[in-house]
Amino acid sequence: MNTPRVMSGMRPTGDLHLGHLVGVLTQWVSYCDTSEAFFEIADLHAYTTGFADPKKIRDARNEMVAVWLAAGVDPNKGTFFLQSAVPEIAELYALLSMITPISWLERVPTFKSQIEELGSEISTLGFLGYPLLQLCDIAIVRAESVPVGRDQVAHLELGREVVRRFNHLYGAGREVLVEPKPTLSEFPDVPGTDGRKMSKSYDNAILISDDEETTTKKIRGMVTDPLKIRKGDPGRPEVCPVFSLWKLVAAVPQLNEIAAGCRTGELGCAPDKAAFAEALNAYLSPVRDRLRIYRNDMGEVERIIAKGTERTRHIAAGVLRDVKSAMRL
Ligand code: TRP
Repeated sequence: MNTPRVMSGMRPTGDLHLGHLVGVLTQWVSYCDTSEAFFEIADLHAYTTGFADPKKIRDARNEMVAVWLAAGVDPNKGTFFLQSAVPEIAELYALLSMITPISWLERVPTFKSQIEELGSEISTLGFLGYPLLQLCDIAIVRAESVPVGRDQVAHLELGREVVRRFNHLYGAGREVLVEPKPTLSEFPDVPGTDGRKMSKSYDNAILISDDEETTTKKIRGMVTDPLKIRKGDPGRPEVCPVFSLWKLVAAVPQLNEIAAGCRTGELGCAPDKAAFAEALNAYLSPVRDRLRIYRNDMGEVERIIAKGTERTRHIAAGVLRDVKSAMRL
């Protein structure tokens, strides 16, 4: 009965890749079994930086959810919802903005770093409020636990401070809002084809929607140990991104065999990559098959989103009622 409530979300900004699949979505699958889980399509968050291209955000929405489903996230166990279709979130955001100091928002590290990266056009009120909006996503269902990446921990910390301030000002000794805790995935970052963290913006990602040929071509072009140049040169698996990716799909005995062959130089990079491409395509094949099925039935995807959104709104209305009553509105 007393299962913890877990909530997480993703911005619909484009194709999901292998890093999302193994680092995030497999975790979501297991949360469905152990918690009461909510998964949000954070389309308003996508507008904080992508406001000039609404079509892109709209097109990415159903596609992203199709990938969640293909990865095995079960909409009968977890609740999928569309942020912009839960207006209670926006109302809560307006209310909490009254007690959120601008200096707290300016202090969040992603605020400055993203402006440096993307330019000052994104320096809007909405962008400054990004972590507050994220808190509202979480607080509107009173989630206690939020699986996120390391880069999101500061957002959660801001959120916790706002909740504390709210409860202090208006709670009269009660916890009207719940302080959410981040749960970090113990999964290490998945490297992309160039060895940096896999990310669409680095153009180094293996996409779930790539076909097998594209996958094989990307893997063929991967960097390996820079000191292993010719066949026969001994290599160092620990610095090789191909070897890091092997760990996602192979069991320990096979990994040991690959590492040993690399170290002696017997195993060349080219045949290793060819074998890895085959193994990865086999690993992704059931996900890709299911993705094709959902892509051909986007009506079903939309029904799933609509159903979960309705359920979320029901909960959200109750939380908002409590918030407004605490604020004497
Ligand atoms: N900011 C998160 C990200 O970029 C996405 C997100 C939006 C989110 N709302 C959330 C994550 C609420 C967890 C909880 O990854």
